Amino acid sequence: MKSKIMVTGGCGYIGSHTVIELIKSGFETVIVDDLSNSSEKSLDRIQEITGVLPHFEKVDLANQEKTMKIFKKHTDVKAVIHFAAHKAVGESVEQPLMYYQNNLFSLINLLSALEKYRIPNFIFSSSATVYGIPTNLPITEDEATQRPFSPYGNTKKVAEEILDDVVKSAANLNAISLRYFNPIGAHESGLIGELPNGIPNNLMPYITQVAVGIREKLMVFGNDYPTKDGTPIRDYIHVVDLAKAHVIAVERLLNQQNEAAFEYFNLGTGKGYSVFEVIRTFEEVTKTKLNYEVTSRRAGDVPQLYAATNLAEKKLKWKAKKGLKEMIASSWKWEQNVRGEG
Ligand code: UD1
Repeated sequence: MKSKIMVTGGCGYIGSHTVIELIKSGFETVIVDDLSNSSEKSLDRIQEITGVLPHFEKVDLANQEKTMKIFKKHTDVKAVIHFAAHKAVGESVEQPLMYYQNNLFSLINLLSALEKYRIPNFIFSSSATVYGIPTNLPITEDEATQRPFSPYGNTKKVAEEILDDVVKSAANLNAISLRYFNPIGAHESGLIGELPNGIPNNLMPYITQVAVGIREKLMVFGNDYPTKDGTPIRDYIHVVDLAKAHVIAVERLLNQQNEAAFEYFNLGTGKGYSVFEVIRTFEEVTKTKLNYEVTSRRAGDVPQLYAATNLAEKKLKWKAKKGLKEMIASSWKWEQNVRGEG
């Protein structure tokens, strides 16, 4: 058995896929999750897929005392992968304080615990949203970050800045921030996937919910963008590819292969697809017709966003392998399973 890794938000969408990849690579895992936007069922699903039940601590990391307690209990943790956060863009605009409180307090409490318990390795779940409105495409990590449109996005940018300061001041703390583009897809088993609370904000869960009959139609937010078909272009990446990158990043820190105390990497495929392309591919892969209507633009959406992938390829030796069809097929399988139709 390799080292023990703490995964905050490990019952959630990206967290649960990462726990599976960590277990498959021989790591022991401890999930810390307050289950505010996820379910304990993820633990059983992880066990079903891997044969291993991760340790589990139901804790809200915004509570400092409780956060310290879990580290006291798991003193042998060698690295923390921090996913736990609120992530709904619209909600963050309505309740910015709740977002800053939850997302930043939890980060600060974790970093304090890392310092106290001398845990030297930290992986942060960041987002391409830190690039704001990109001036150059594809986006390289050299691109300056900009103030994101939403408080949610800003918690990611501020968190990276906090990390930068803390890593600089600490004698022994190394961190990697992973900037995700648009994660979609689900585990091939169909046992875990994205399960948004209420009305989905993101494109893929909305599409699958329309196709399965829970929502009437997809609203396409604008077809007058300066792109090939007028709809915005995004870099969709399979969540399992993304999860694997976290294992590589953790190994990089554990093996002290990092070249700076704080590194950041884009995680995308480098390929951009428009909303219409995603819809067409969905219809083709699933052989279902999707009901949709073009409406006005959504505030804060940028026309195009796709990653330069060279740095992750060179330094992490990681490259996304799964294409759009595979992403869509797995999202669809998951949605059907969740609704008891699979
Ligand atoms: C969004 C967030 C981003 C966050 C990411 C997490 C915004 C502005 N950005 O990215 O900060 O890190 O989710 O996954 O919310 N679309 C529709 N109809 C829909 C939903 C989406 O047409 O019902 C379109 C959007 O206009 C966009 C594309 O689909 O062009 C992808 O949208 P989405 O999945 O929400 O991701 P982002 O907006 O790229």
